[in-house]
Amino acid sequence: MNTVLSSFEKILRLLIGEDIVLRMELAPALGNIKADPAQGEQVIMNLAVNSRDAMPTGGELAIGTEGVVVGEPFVASLVGSTAGPSVLVTVSDTGLGMPPEIMARIFEPFFTTKEHGKGTGKRFIHRLRHRQADGRRYLGGK
Ligand SMILES: Nc1ncnc2c1ncn2[C@@H]1O[C@H](COP(=O)(O)OP(=O)(O)O)[C@@H](O)[C@H]1O
Ligand SMILES: [Mg+2]
Repeated sequence: MNTVLSSFEKILRLLIGEDIVLRMELAPALGNIKADPAQGEQVIMNLAVNSRDAMPTGGELAIGTEGVVVGEPFVASLVGSTAGPSVLVTVSDTGLGMPPEIMARIFEPFFTTKEHGKGTGKRFIHRLRHRQADGRRYLGGK
């Protein structure tokens, strides 16, 4: 994941523009994961575009990786997850944020608050997740 993110950094910077600062916090000595690198890039790109759209006057986009061991309480809270060593990728921004009513709907494949033709969509992530059995997405509260 770190390799994919590092080689993708330049493109991400171009994508988000000069007013948004990109902060990469990649954990050293991270284990490998079973995933298609191109699909990983697509997921990160879509999240970065969402962040860019949420920061029209600039801000900070942070992307981090972390080696974690998924435990039973988490497994119980997230359908389809499995316990054991995993790589946690976090994407956060200092943008507008999301009120609860939007947050409740963001994994709906075609949900958008943007005018027609503008949005890019987690529908990509939705599609990818269906093809890629081991990936799990999790929405934090920040
Ligand atoms: N980083 C973010 N900050 C604030 N709101 C967001 C963010 N990401 C997504 N959203 C909200 O969730 C909605 C759905 O996002 P998404 O599924 O990517 O579709 P789209 O980008 O096409 O609107 C967006 O329209 C926006 O309102
Ligand atoms: Mg989007």
